[in-house]
Amino acid sequence: MNRTAAQKRIADLRQQINRHDALYSRGQPEISDYDYDQLFSELKKLETEFDLVAPDSPTQRVGDAPLKEFQSVRHAVPMLSLEKSDSLEGLKKFDADIHKQLPGETIEYVLEPKIDGVSISVRYENGLLVQAATRGDGQTGDDITANVKTIKAIPLRLSKPVNIEVRGEAFMPVTEFEKYNATLEKPLPNPRNATAGTLKQLDPRIAASRPLNAVFYAVVGGEFATHGAALDALKSLGLPTPPYWICPTMADVLARYEAADLRTQVPYELDGIVVKVNSLAQQARIPAKARAPGYAIVFKPEHWIKPAETKLLAITVQVGRTGVLTPVAELEPVFVQGSTVSRATLHNEEEIKRKDIRIGDTVIIRKAGMVIPEVVEVVTGKRTGKEKHFKMPDKCPACGGPVHRDPEFVAVRCENISCPAQLKRTIEHFTMRKAMDIEGLGEVLVDQLVEAGLVKDVADLYALTVEQLAGLERMAEKSATNVIRAIAASKDRDLLRLLHGLGITHVGEEAARKLAAHFGSLDKLATASVEELQHCEDIGPVMAESLHDFFRNDRNAAVLKKLKQAGLNSKTEVRSQKSEGPFTGKTVVVTGTLEKFSRDQAKDVLRQAGANVTDSISKKTDYLIVGTDAGSKLEKAQKLDVKILSEAEFIKLLA
Ligand code: IVH
Repeated sequence: MNRTAAQKRIADLRQQINRHDALYSRGQPEISDYDYDQLFSELKKLETEFDLVAPDSPTQRVGDAPLKEFQSVRHAVPMLSLEKSDSLEGLKKFDADIHKQLPGETIEYVLEPKIDGVSISVRYENGLLVQAATRGDGQTGDDITANVKTIKAIPLRLSKPVNIEVRGEAFMPVTEFEKYNATLEKPLPNPRNATAGTLKQLDPRIAASRPLNAVFYAVVGGEFATHGAALDALKSLGLPTPPYWICPTMADVLARYEAADLRTQVPYELDGIVVKVNSLAQQARIPAKARAPGYAIVFKPEHWIKPAETKLLAITVQVGRTGVLTPVAELEPVFVQGSTVSRATLHNEEEIKRKDIRIGDTVIIRKAGMVIPEVVEVVTGKRTGKEKHFKMPDKCPACGGPVHRDPEFVAVRCENISCPAQLKRTIEHFTMRKAMDIEGLGEVLVDQLVEAGLVKDVADLYALTVEQLAGLERMAEKSATNVIRAIAASKDRDLLRLLHGLGITHVGEEAARKLAAHFGSLDKLATASVEELQHCEDIGPVMAESLHDFFRNDRNAAVLKKLKQAGLNSKTEVRSQKSEGPFTGKTVVVTGTLEKFSRDQAKDVLRQAGANVTDSISKKTDYLIVGTDAGSKLEKAQKLDVKILSEAEFIKLLA
């Protein structure tokens, strides 16, 4: 064969192989594996013999050198996730929200499958596949070009020489996954894990040996009028795309859903139905959510969710903020709706009895509201007779104190008001984002503080020093300083946050908002009668009683007094950090060892009081605050006639 003939034959073979790759990916192979291999070997042989290798040849799908590590790829446009709903109500609300955002406009929707795989972004230059990346954190992913090239469904060259970046999903078809899983010593929980694991292999030969597939559902940029048109364009470029249905209104989306089970109409495992606004111009005008676009939603009907089965290893008991004991199922880890679950709430003893849950049982797990893991039922057929009944302890597992059965609420409660478990939950509640928002003060640190006896109520937080925190395990000086700073900053929060943070029974965030607006200050609220409390919007007799009791409780009153002394804002307005005071606009230096504050704390307090805190004395310095063992700074201040304050004087001025 001469070179010209070889060129011709090579072109012909590549075309045939590409065609068979695409057919195979769609599950419609026309030739046997043997015949395919014949074509492939012939192509390989000719390319080598005549030195006619090309980057888009099917022989180039598998590189042979393993990578050392993945390079990072910064996404030109972030890769977002999708809002989810498990009810038709959720879809209707989504539609109503869109109409609110685009009032008076006609909104057409596209319905398409959500494929359960791993998102990928693929870039083509002049029609040639040049880069593929994982989603990573949404901003930056890993360069997995070598592995993505092995996926036969993805063309190495498009039908036109365009520059384009496309987003899609790599996945392993279920039947292929089952075959592959059967070869493993330790089977994988699902096809998605298998896909993710394959794409993260450093050796592309491994990826080539595994049956991955892909579809593309979006173009980055691109000038199309509608999402449907964009999908059509991708398809005509040779990319695999999902089927889609145009629905002129949300009612049509719902009707389509009711009419036929989409799962029977799509050649892949469906993870839900994606509903997108069809017009790209409209899409662009709908504000995005935190990590998801506003123009799309995934709908996954509850009955599609496959129940996950696992073993109930033990039942432990947790003590909550109000002292209620909650039984928790400790499970053999199991994959449920997107994440691995090893614990699930069992709510209360009644619930355990009603479902007849026994330790050692095989149980079915699902996520309530798609988030909270829950034991649905017991697979009684799998009982061995060795299962054990659970009994609620009659002592608090955290403090050993007596527990009280509340017959009305089926709750079992620890009666000890200084129970460390309750205290921990109370403090966690106080510091959480929607309450006092103290960054860095999470569960682990709260546990440590309570166990070390440093904090006995929420007010004690404001007396902590950097030294005390830095003395705790796994606490560096720097993070200790940050936490103290965050605690100090929380003093300026408004009454709403403080009220919410106090965790008064029945008083949630919304009630706290109404109360703060109505009463304006903690003092007014604390002295209000039950009747006066009920004058506030949305406050009924139960909440009013609860508030009234809370403020009349001696322990609570003592904590509130301490909070006030610590200088917490107790007004509805957020305290401006620059309120006028003796230090406002003053330049201040702190030196020596203080008794009541660490130096950093003192500086923080000063900054909050509007001072400009510096480290060296100059003519511009207004005050020097001195502790014991002050050195050269004191001398210099005396020389320059800077006003000197002792710690006591400083505290007095602050107050
Ligand atoms: S649209 C910015 N459409 O689901 C638009 N995503 O939880 C976001 N997915 O990471 C994606 N099928 O990888 C879209 N038809 C589809 C999809 C789809 C699967 C994946 C995607 C994304 C995840 C969202």
